[in-house]
Amino acid sequence: MRDPLILGIESSCDETGVAIVRGNELLASEVASSVDLHVRFGGVVPEVASRAHLQAIVPALERAVATADVQLEDLDAIAVTAGPGLMGALVVGVAAAKALALRLDKPLYGVNHLVGHVAVDLLDHGPLPTPAVALLVSGGHTSLLHVRDIATDIVELGSTIDDAAGEAYDKVARLLGLSYPGGPVIDRLAADGDPTAIRFPRGLTARHDLECHRYDFSFSGLKTAVARWVEQRRLDGLDVPVADVCASFQEAVADVLTAKTIDAARELGVETILLGGGVAANSRLRGLLEQRAQAAGFAVRRPRPGLCTDNGAMIAAVGVEVVRAGLEPSPLDISAQSGLPVSTVIVR
Ligand code: KG4
Ligand code: ZN
Repeated sequence: MRDPLILGIESSCDETGVAIVRGNELLASEVASSVDLHVRFGGVVPEVASRAHLQAIVPALERAVATADVQLEDLDAIAVTAGPGLMGALVVGVAAAKALALRLDKPLYGVNHLVGHVAVDLLDHGPLPTPAVALLVSGGHTSLLHVRDIATDIVELGSTIDDAAGEAYDKVARLLGLSYPGGPVIDRLAADGDPTAIRFPRGLTARHDLECHRYDFSFSGLKTAVARWVEQRRLDGLDVPVADVCASFQEAVADVLTAKTIDAARELGVETILLGGGVAANSRLRGLLEQRAQAAGFAVRRPRPGLCTDNGAMIAAVGVEVVRAGLEPSPLDISAQSGLPVSTVIVR
């Protein structure tokens, strides 16, 4: 079968992404971010994000088509994020995708955003050896996945019981007076700090926690510990060593994420670990996972940092996999699902 030509549309949060791929080749990826509109609120405002998607989506489509130098009529299918995400934001992408599918008479696949964070790596590194363990770390989600088949068989081993890893970065950045989104800023500042300066707690790693939550995560205790530490320094009239706080916080996050991932890979007997999601752009997480995986004999796959945060290419990459697997398209009356579970790859 020749490589399918797929249009991918992403609008689950604050990035409007439109991309075109042919097989595993990325032809164009346009991302319009509304992040600047949310900065002063310290987090994404759903109504503002939805309005920005409405404005950005058609220009992004036009730019992607021009860059890829393809005709929309030549597409094999249209893939769109149907969930999880912000309902009003998702609806914009799903409605646009339906309009295109109708107008062009092409199959529509309403797909899972989280699976996109896993599939996008295939554009950089080719087919994924399965089964694999995937660590998915984003602003809204933190999950460990057993990927047996990327189009049809993904099982969630565990997930965060409170804040997502990216959310913890954003909240810690806020309490340190840093800008939103916090991940890239903390990552940068941590480079000049000492990761051993402060021993912050590692959530759900005590023996009794592991009995029920072996592959689950918790970051809200860590965030509170950072807040208390910073508050105490201020009460004591001392300067807050921001770089050391960032490095020590980042170390606690990377330590827990990588330890549980290696444990899962060992237990399930896989050979490959895949890292995905916005926080996968984090330099310490990438480095520590590489180091621990190598020591334990696992191969690590991770997309280039530019494809870790939300984009249309990740959705087109899922489209390629489901078309190759010969799966039925979604009906045109699908809805968006803000709480779509990761095990549902295509919405019907
Ligand atoms: O996957 P993503 O773009 O959106 C969601 O699906 O949530 O992830 C966004 C999250 C934000 O919380 C942001 O702070 C975090 O990814 N992030 C990072 C880095 N770059 C983005 N976190 C840590 N280090 C980074 N370099
Ligand atoms: Zn995402």
